[in-house]
Formats: sequence, C-alpha cells, structure tokens
Amino acid sequence: MRYYHIGFGREDLGPNPPTTALLSGDPERAQVIAERHLQAARLLSQHRGLNSYVGLLPNGMPVLSATSGMGAPSLSIVVNELRQVGIRQIIRIGTTGSIQPHVLPGSVVISSAALCRQGAANDIAPLEYPAAADPFLTVALAQAAQTLGVEHYVGITASVDTFYEGQERTESSANPNLLRRLQGITEEYRRLNVLNYEMECGTLFKMAGVYGFAAGCVCGVIAQRTTGESVVLEQKAIAVDNAIRVALLAASIHPG
Ligand code: URA
Repeated sequence: MRYYHIGFGREDLGPNPPTTALLSGDPERAQVIAERHLQAARLLSQHRGLNSYVGLLPNGMPVLSATSGMGAPSLSIVVNELRQVGIRQIIRIGTTGSIQPHVLPGSVVISSAALCRQGAANDIAPLEYPAAADPFLTVALAQAAQTLGVEHYVGITASVDTFYEGQERTESSANPNLLRRLQGITEEYRRLNVLNYEMECGTLFKMAGVYGFAAGCVCGVIAQRTTGESVVLEQKAIAVDNAIRVALLAASIHPG
C-alpha cells in the first residue's frame, strides 16, 4: 500500500527498511542529501514535491531522506505517514532566522525545545503540551557539531506559522500592517532567550511526544534578524551544508 501524500509504502523500503528519516523542508535539499551524502541512494517518490529517497549512511545504516514541505500543516501530514511506514526517529534539517546578535549566519541552531505558536499542533495536542526535542538525539546533534567543528547553539526555537507577519517582517512584506500582538514580539522573544525563528519544529516535537517517536532539529542560520529582515544569500550554502553534515553524523551516533 502506498500512502496518499508521500507516495510510497513500507513495501517500497526493501528488506532492510530505515527507521530514521532526515526531513528537509525543501525537496531539493532532500535530493542533495540523497545524491551527495548517501550511498546506493534510490528515489522512492516525487509526489506533490514531497521527494523521498532511501540510501545508506557511511556506516551502512539505512536512512530516509524525505521532504516536509513548508510549514506545519504539510509537515504534520508527512510525519503522520512516515510513522505509518515504520519511521521511529526524525531529524529535521531546516533553515532559520537568528534573533540573537551572537548567532550568526552560517552557524547552526540545534533546538532543545520550541515555543510552539502553530495552529496545526493544536489539532494534535493541547496548547500547553510541551514541544520538546528528544534529549538524547539533541545531545547527539551537539556532539556531531562539535566533532565537525561546526559553530552551533543549542536552545529554544520559536516555531511560527508565517514567515512574514509571524516573524515580524514589515519592510520586506506585502503587508505593512502588523497585528498589535505581533509588534515587538521578536524583541520580547530575544529577551526570553529564544534563539531563532523557523516554521516546523514545534509541531514536529509535539507530534513526537504524542505519537511516541524521537525528534530533533538542526537548522542552518540564513538570516540575522537583529540587523535586518532579509536572507543572507552568501551564507545560505554553508549554513545548509553544515546542518546536513551535523544531521548525518548525529544519525549514525544515535541510530534510533
Ligand atoms: N526560515 C524562517 O522561518 N525564517 C527565516 O528568517 C529564515 C528561514
């Protein structure tokens, strides 16, 4: 049986099926992981832009490289179906905007927990339910970053539903009218020691708690919101490559 959205099923995963998924927001990133970093990589499906591949880590462990799409509603569908094909551990590999002056583009943020301001998560667990990463997987991600010499920060991430309004963008947005409750939210979060903004890991972490799987998140920093709104394109390739390498090594340290 093939699952409706991801476009593959358990029987497509072969005799040694993966239990860990590397989950990228961007289908091209899922492809790069498969083609440049996995051995014997094989395309599973390209349904609705949710590209999925299976391949082997350098230690021979099978892993899935899959796509969540942008934002929590899409991620929630993919994660639900990945659980049904037997995935027990998910590492999100994303991009992010730093809201702390010392967290610079090119580095990575490893999320220990999320401030979850996401509507999709409210269909899965109560608002108060903790959005926490798996502690052991989080340590493995930090160890991997340390081993690789990648500049990294471990801490709390704000997961929100919108890139523009929800992350207090006005100058680069078509909508200059921010709701009162969002005016000054970035500075408020900065003072609460939140490290960064992204759009998926809060829901992923709540799903992990409810469904019973291990989840972690590593994001490459591509914007510095204490100095501006835009993505620092010159740093994007290095930030994403750092996040991918950290996730791959963590998956072999913590097989799931
Ligand atoms: N992803 C986000 O959600 N925000 C950013 O600023 C950059 C990437």
